[in-house]
Amino acid sequence: MKGLILSGGKGTRLYPITFNRAKQLVPVANKPVLFRVIEAIKDAGIDDIGIVIGDTGAEIRQAVGNGSRWDVKITYIEQDAPLGLAHAVKISHDFIGDERFVMFLGDNVIEGGISDLIRQFASSDWNSQIVLTEVDEPQHYGVAELDNDGKIVRLIEKPRTPPSNLALVGIYMFDKTIFDAVHAIEPSWRGELEITDAIQWLLENSRTVFPFVHRGWWIDTGKTVDMLDANNRVLAELEHRVDGYIDRDSKIDHLVTVARGAEVINSVIRGPAIIGEDCRIINSYIGPFTSIYDHTVVEDSEIEHSIILDNSRIVGIPNRIEDSIIGRDVEITYSPIKPKAYKMVLGDHSKVGLL
Ligand code: G1P
Repeated sequence: MKGLILSGGKGTRLYPITFNRAKQLVPVANKPVLFRVIEAIKDAGIDDIGIVIGDTGAEIRQAVGNGSRWDVKITYIEQDAPLGLAHAVKISHDFIGDERFVMFLGDNVIEGGISDLIRQFASSDWNSQIVLTEVDEPQHYGVAELDNDGKIVRLIEKPRTPPSNLALVGIYMFDKTIFDAVHAIEPSWRGELEITDAIQWLLENSRTVFPFVHRGWWIDTGKTVDMLDANNRVLAELEHRVDGYIDRDSKIDHLVTVARGAEVINSVIRGPAIIGEDCRIINSYIGPFTSIYDHTVVEDSEIEHSIILDNSRIVGIPNRIEDSIIGRDVEITYSPIKPKAYKMVLGDHSKVGLL
């Protein structure tokens, strides 16, 4: 089997974090979501992976390279415009050839491995397998209607009145018949070739599509709240270890990961939390569900339930920072200079909540 990861799109709902970076490269528990997807596919025994890239392709190529870090072979497939998931399948035909494949959206995070599912499909004669899960607002997703025997009756993309609360998760398995489907369908109202319509075509043309209902958590990291939610879930599952330096005056609990080269001085860290490489945490409190990415300094400050990206400095902040996502090279410092006022230089699309 081959793997296909879709990693285009602008990520506008995650602005400004994704203003100049690919959304799939935003780290969750200090690892880009895209890397987690590559690892999930590799764990299923697939080492030939295509990545469909768009406007942010250069950054993705640079971050992922040729895949040797994961012992996989990566082929990049360029999509000129975001014309839909089924369009991405269409342009990947040369790469896939006649093989069965798993397609994964590069910004989806799912609980546990999917290896068993992929292996099950690899040895089956189904034309497709889809993954469904119960969601609160199905109108934002592709939705499946199942009959009493659990067979798919119909699939519909972003329905106004959803026939069920079972959404299509961004993981799909196909054989070569999907190429007939993506050529047969027409663009939807949003101008995209919908993969949901292509799978519906398979159903209407007597192909077998097997629905697997996933009972664990699944997060499409499209919005900032989803990003924090995914961070919580992954941090809670992480195997924790300390490779950095913790001084005698610091207190950290067993659910904390401290990476190589990081230093924790006179601070308290309550897990689950992760501190990245070469970070310095000084006279500070880092609370549960916090990820601090590499080369960041936190001094005389308190942070909880947040994601802080690389090379940032947070120094001397009198109130605790919570529920925040802070980008790269950001500086937040206490300023004693009069007048006593907030002094900010914020880029486009920034969001700040002040007391
Ligand atoms: C896409 C699919 C949708 C699926 C969702 C999962 O939606 O079209 O069927 O439920 O991914 O994340 P989009 O992200 O393009 O709105």
